[in-house]
Amino acid sequence: MNVRKGHQTILILDFGSQYTQLIARRIRELGVYSEIQPYNTEIPHIKNNNIRGIVLSGGPSSVYSKKGPLISKKILDLDTPVLGICYGLQLIIDLSGGKVSPAPEREYGEAKLSILEDSALLKDMSDNSTVWMSHGDKVTQLTSDYKTIARTDNSPNAVVQHISKPIFGLQFHPEVKHTIEGETLLKNFCFNICSCSGDWSTGSFIKESLEDIQKQVGSKNVICGLSGGVDSSVVAVLLDKAIGKQLQCIFVNTGLLRLNEAQKVEKVFSKHFHINLLSVDKSDLFLSKLAGIENPEEKRKTIGRLFIDVFEQEAKNLGDFDFLAQGTLYPDVIESTSVRGPSATIKSHHNVGGLPEKMHFKLIEPLRELFKDEVRKTGRDLRIPEEIIGRHPFPGPGLAVRIPGTITEEKINILQLADDIYITELKKNNLYNKIWQAFAVLLPVQSVGVMGDERTYEFTLVLRAVTSTDGMTANWFHMPYDILSHISNRIINEVAGINRVVYDISSKPPATIEWE
Ligand code: XMP
Repeated sequence: MNVRKGHQTILILDFGSQYTQLIARRIRELGVYSEIQPYNTEIPHIKNNNIRGIVLSGGPSSVYSKKGPLISKKILDLDTPVLGICYGLQLIIDLSGGKVSPAPEREYGEAKLSILEDSALLKDMSDNSTVWMSHGDKVTQLTSDYKTIARTDNSPNAVVQHISKPIFGLQFHPEVKHTIEGETLLKNFCFNICSCSGDWSTGSFIKESLEDIQKQVGSKNVICGLSGGVDSSVVAVLLDKAIGKQLQCIFVNTGLLRLNEAQKVEKVFSKHFHINLLSVDKSDLFLSKLAGIENPEEKRKTIGRLFIDVFEQEAKNLGDFDFLAQGTLYPDVIESTSVRGPSATIKSHHNVGGLPEKMHFKLIEPLRELFKDEVRKTGRDLRIPEEIIGRHPFPGPGLAVRIPGTITEEKINILQLADDIYITELKKNNLYNKIWQAFAVLLPVQSVGVMGDERTYEFTLVLRAVTSTDGMTANWFHMPYDILSHISNRIINEVAGINRVVYDISSKPPATIEWE
């Protein structure tokens, strides 16, 4: 258990729901620290004064199936309030001797919640508000210890409550936005029922983590790979604030970055923040080692290996370092203990943070308790420019996986210019922040065109823009035609080498976000 520094905590026991992380995020948005642990966490670990409430998450199993994850009945005998959500509710009822049965058909989507009885949990919620259902089983019988306080047409026991203890269960999901008053319900649970005061904020995180870092590092030195992405930028600025010149950052220009990336990173971190930053240009090395490689995985491996070699060599040249700083985030930490297993995570090769375990540094991971939106908030609190904090994700292997086929310097130059026009126009038209990720891909396909009186035979550029919340699934962005048209005109007129622009209208799944 990693209850943070005496903060009041809502513990979420994870039974494998796709929404578990969302519950934690919603609770933290209310200013209450929330932590996820596997469902089989032992009761003695749960007995901690900082744990003010326990949420039993949803999950894909049935409580009556032999394979369903179970929990000791003792969880209901602690004095700590409990809120069961979906599978969590069914578990509470099953443990208490009530009955859960398969519903005639799976209920999925919106329902109207009618409130039958006043309760601290439903305070300030309106009757008949919309809730979001997603379940195959339902509670069909309660013991006399429980009562129903709200229902929907299909779920006669949509909200249940113990008659004398602070134990509650919901058939619907308060954490998803489709449950219109879900936030009110979670607030009621955290503040009215668990008596939390709301002592969690990114401001308090910064203050505490500066102390933690100073304590952990002492007078030793820390090395940090700075990519200019959100996570490594926040790690670098946080460490700089904590230990100043004991921090050394290294930025490796692989030549596969966006236009003028190296100059931008140097400007922000060296000139603005005065961070110790070594910027090394290894474009020629990366380009020569990638020559002739077409296979995407081989490209990734080559780049990964080279990056480690370069980083290791540069670190050695700079002196002795005890610690390596990494931008590991809370979802990476949870996934390693999740009951869902690794299938739900973004493929591991995507984690650029995976710098050399074999380098024998001690790790320092100041963001390992934060969700991405909290990292962004922390970055803003640290006054890191919006240009960095609001940035779309960028893959570690960079433009190499946006140039299908072999990579040449000419292709990289063309792609950088086209991508820059694309992104500049999205920003100018206030679309950039509505999109999860937008980028251009240079296809190894040439086609015939005309320019003036000349026939041309040049490359095709793909514009890609998707909306998403976590990169796991994504929809193509419905870009206004006039903007697409303007971007296409600019690229074809201004970038020599491209005579055709197309827009990618595939979603993930079955496509992926990147082309390789
Ligand atoms: P896909 O293409 O799998 O991408 O839908 C999902 C998210 O991961 C990013 N991505 C990568 N990130 N190294 C990275 O650091 C990689 O090799 C890599 N491949 C994909 C992608 O940009 C998207 O945000």
